[in-house]
Amino acid sequence: MDSTIIQPLHLAWCSGALSGAPLLTKSTTLQDLPGVFADHTCWQSLAGSKPVYHVEMFATPDRPGELYTGVTHLMPGKVGEEFFMTRGHFHARREQGEVYIGLRGEGLLLLQDEQNSTRLERVYPGSVHTIPGFTAHRLINTGNEILSALAVWPCSAGHDYSALKNGFALRVVDDAGSVRVMEVNHD
Ligand code: F6R
Ligand code: ZN
Repeated sequence: MDSTIIQPLHLAWCSGALSGAPLLTKSTTLQDLPGVFADHTCWQSLAGSKPVYHVEMFATPDRPGELYTGVTHLMPGKVGEEFFMTRGHFHARREQGEVYIGLRGEGLLLLQDEQNSTRLERVYPGSVHTIPGFTAHRLINTGNEILSALAVWPCSAGHDYSALKNGFALRVVDDAGSVRVMEVNHD
């Protein structure tokens, strides 16, 4: 057995910065999110390349059984009264779940199953979220600072962004300084 002590990968708890191995980063701007926010006119007027979130992850080899580790950094901001949020997705392999851990900022994790039942969990530093299989998930930043959350998920899970044809059944807006949850009427 090799007795060498290996320097592990590192996560800075307060900022969510990852280090110790090659990283991949994906940035998503408002322009990349057409149809995601309810106020299309406002979205159009703001669009351009305004960053909404970055995902930084270790460049893990995509082999059966491996796990990805990544951190989402979601900016504070709104489109109209609607808080900035991630696009949200089901996993392509529907049965595969994921764990999120809140690192900084405050927000909500919106979960929606295939029968459109929804649940919101408060995200804050130290909050732990077990996302079951068959459940779409989206982060929403309801605070004034960056919301960062660690995620660990199977490399084989994949992402399915198109399955939520009607989008999520809840929207979260700023109602004169309070967080208000609205049900979406798809009729
Ligand atoms: C991975 C995962 C997160 C999200 C990230 C960005 O399965 O859930 O790493 O990918 O928060 O959100 P999306 O992918 O919905 O744009
Ligand atoms: Zn996911």
